[in-house]
Amino acid sequence: MGVRYANASVPAVHDVDLAIEAGQFAVLLGPSGCGKSTLLRTINRLVEPTSGTLLIDGGDVRERDATELRRGIGYVIQAVGLFPHYTVAQNVGVVPKLLGWEQVRIDARVDELLRLIRLDPARYRDRKPRELSGGEAQRVGVARALAAQPRVLLMDEPFAAVDAIVRASLQDEIARVHRELGTTIVFVTHDVDEALRLADRIVVMNAGHVVQTGPPAEILEHPADDFVRDLVGVDAETRRLALERPLIER
Ligand SMILES: Nc1ncnc2c1ncn2[C@@H]1O[C@H](COP(=O)(O)OP(=O)(O)OP(=O)(O)O)[C@@H](O)[C@H]1O
Ligand SMILES: [Mg+2]
Repeated sequence: MGVRYANASVPAVHDVDLAIEAGQFAVLLGPSGCGKSTLLRTINRLVEPTSGTLLIDGGDVRERDATELRRGIGYVIQAVGLFPHYTVAQNVGVVPKLLGWEQVRIDARVDELLRLIRLDPARYRDRKPRELSGGEAQRVGVARALAAQPRVLLMDEPFAAVDAIVRASLQDEIARVHRELGTTIVFVTHDVDEALRLADRIVVMNAGHVVQTGPPAEILEHPADDFVRDLVGVDAETRRLALERPLIER
């Protein structure tokens, strides 16, 4: 599968041959402009491949209605993108409402998700996005993406805009969501430590190519080439040791 944007001289994503298994936490890792967001966005058809095919559950995504497909795939972007005039509860409930859930079921789901992301429903459900901190808004973005229990969750640098402490707690939360719900997650970052912390499988990209895929320990111990070695190389030993401790303690 490849993507070449109109008028671009080179493809943004070259012939990528990649299978992500159900229930996996896959992290796309690589420098700015290497094609991570482009590859991610082909999964929910925000970008169409210009060569090859992309299959979900064995079916070509092009044969699915794009709107219906997107309702079944949670998507979190860096800019969060909450609707400013909606309350937190309305933001989180937006997809269930589109799917025609009854209001009582939506309300119960919203409260459940707010507790999951550790925001007290009584305090937060009626606030507007402008009344939230950046980290709280990002958590609400995560809750919204999870609302209709998507089996696939796409996250494009979702924690880039928060400080290190909030970032660590959001990482713990998404790891817990993954563990508890078994959601397939494709997560984009250019932060090596974030990738090592979260991934079952890291997909390293460079200049539109996938240069290596494997579990974090394998990427650290057997980098495929100089690019990967340089990417993880600084403090590789410290990073390898950190992997041996469970996430919750890190
Ligand atoms: N809509 C577009 N039209 C044309 N070119 C684009 C478009 N979107 C991205 N590109 C180009 O495609 C390449 C890959 O972009 P992409 O956004 O996928 O990179 P990225 O790895 O997500 O980078 P970053 O870490 O900065 O977000 C870049 O060269 C970019 O300039
Ligand atoms: Mg990007």
